[in-house]
Amino acid sequence: MQTINLKNGDKLAVLGMGTWFMGERPAQRKEEIATLRYAIEQGVNLIDSAEMYGNGRSERLVGEAIAPYARESLYLISKVLPENANLRRMEQSCDASLRALNTDYLDMYLYHWRGATALEETVQGLEALKAKGKIRAWGVSNFDLEDMQELLALPQGKHCQLNQVLFHLGSRGIEYALKPYQDQQHIPTLAYCPLAQAGRLQRNLINHPVLTEVAQEIGCTPYQVLLLFVLAQPNTVAIPKAAQLQHCKDNIACLQLSLSPQQLMRLNRAFPAPTRRQALDIV
Ligand SMILES: NC(=O)c1ccc[n+]([C@@H]2O[C@H](COP(=O)([O-])OP(=O)(O)OC[C@H]3O[C@@H](n4cnc5c(N)ncnc54)[C@H](OP(=O)(O)O)[C@@H]3O)[C@@H](O)[C@H]2O)c1
Repeated sequence: MQTINLKNGDKLAVLGMGTWFMGERPAQRKEEIATLRYAIEQGVNLIDSAEMYGNGRSERLVGEAIAPYARESLYLISKVLPENANLRRMEQSCDASLRALNTDYLDMYLYHWRGATALEETVQGLEALKAKGKIRAWGVSNFDLEDMQELLALPQGKHCQLNQVLFHLGSRGIEYALKPYQDQQHIPTLAYCPLAQAGRLQRNLINHPVLTEVAQEIGCTPYQVLLLFVLAQPNTVAIPKAAQLQHCKDNIACLQLSLSPQQLMRLNRAFPAPTRRQALDIV
């Protein structure tokens, strides 16, 4: 599988799995676990969760799904809520995530979105968890350009490994300033909502004639075209969430497909990259 490089030397597969809303419905639990296991067995080892998701229910579901696999074969990401991203509460949050995931370390811990705590204190807390071996690395989420610039100006801010933000064909605001800045700083983008569960143009996207046409040409679904578009971006990892096994299979099948330069051009024409700065899209 194609990979991208982090500054700390980690290599991340370009396709991972989101888990928001997983573990919420008992009737779906069996399929959700089977789906996560199917993906892991196909080599998709990056799983994104958060303490916020179902108040730990997503992390607990992931913990159950990963139980049969060697820990070092997985790349586990969780996130700390802004109200816990301080020296008083962060370790407690991290410990709860570790317990829920039934593991003793996270590969990546993300600051979910920026809150009232001074960035310096949050960074200090993240570095302390790293020193204790509870997390291997840390990053941020929903940080816009100025947030990233402020972060990277801090003495230990440069240890930030990635920024997880909303990005899909119909929501391309990051391409104007944030993404170029991150690329320059060697900070990859973890694209959430790659299938447009939220963001600009969500409703008019999936039935758009160009998307339908390209899907027909490739012999795939319009959702797969959305994923192929994200997978075509440099320094980017897509983390679609699929609770249904068939959806997961379709997403993994995208690793064997690609958009031709001509198809990419038509998609770019129908859904142009921004020509001016836009506020960061957030769910
Ligand atoms: N950092 C943040 O603030 C933030 C915010 C939002 C999301 N995230 C992360 O990013 C992940 C992905 O984002 P998301 O879950 O919001 O949205 P998404 O991945 O864009 O969309 C998920 C939806 O698409 C469906 N789906 C998946 N594969 C499909 C396919 N091949 N064909 C048709 N439908 C398909 C899923 O259905 P089924 O589930 O029924 O299969 C689900 O309804 C989250 O799960 C979470 O881990 C992070």
